[in-house]
Amino acid sequence: MWNSEKQKAVGKRQKAENTKGRPRRRVLRIFVSCLLPTVYCLLFTSACRRDMQDQPKAIAYRESSFFKNGLSSRPLVEGTVPRGYLRADREYYLGKKLIASSQPSPVLTQPAGAQATAPSINLPNAPVTTASTAALYPDDVDTFPFPITKEALDRGQERYQIFCSVCHGLTGSGDGILARRGFSKPSPASYHQDRLRQAPVGHFFDVMTNGWGAMPSYASQIPVEDRWRIIAYIRALQLSQMRQGR
Ligand code: HEC
Repeated sequence: MWNSEKQKAVGKRQKAENTKGRPRRRVLRIFVSCLLPTVYCLLFTSACRRDMQDQPKAIAYRESSFFKNGLSSRPLVEGTVPRGYLRADREYYLGKKLIASSQPSPVLTQPAGAQATAPSINLPNAPVTTASTAALYPDDVDTFPFPITKEALDRGQERYQIFCSVCHGLTGSGDGILARRGFSKPSPASYHQDRLRQAPVGHFFDVMTNGWGAMPSYASQIPVEDRWRIIAYIRALQLSQMRQGR
């Protein structure tokens, strides 16, 4: 009797131990079965490891042993044009004639209004163009690429006063504040000299776009259309300083 009770008690204790110990052992087994492949991977594949900071990619302007010429950057295919930069209209974007010629074109004597379709201000493109002045700028266009309206002229005046008047003066005589304070070797040109009165509009476009002697380029600051509007205003300034009848 006593014995059997004792046995029962022992059996209960063992049962309790068993139910506690079994999950612990299973966890240990899972842990070991995961650990082994991990250790295996670490041991045998660490030689092929590539960290993120060491990516096999070409970095712009870096040398590369992959290409024959040693450059990682590939040259653009000839004739590539970035989206939105197809500047096929040579006269509008460059102020240059379609076909460069040293012959003065017959359009030279035509005023701007002649080819305008919208109501526009009749600004002479080349007030007193002579063959000799045209020969100085054979490639430059002598007509505005779009009709000059009052709005265009007003915008031109505003842009001129912002960008050009500091050197060339409000009337274009070359007496802007910078010229008076010492920018004088050479001093900004006066637009009221015969050569510039006779120069085709394309020449002014060229000066603004590419710079001229001591004058820097304004291409990055003044959009193409505004450059043409500024020229229209310069033409108006030139007219304002001319004697009647010339
Ligand atoms: C920082 C001063 C400065 C500003 C601003 C400036 N210019 Fe000039 N510009 C000059 C100087 C200096 C010259 C003379 C350059 C030379 O002869 O080396 C000149 C010359 C010129 C000429 C004469 C080119 C020729 O054939 O002799 C034109 C046209 C002209 N500028 C237009 C403009 C226009 C349009 C603007 C405004 C978009 C402008 N400039 C803004 C300094 C300036």
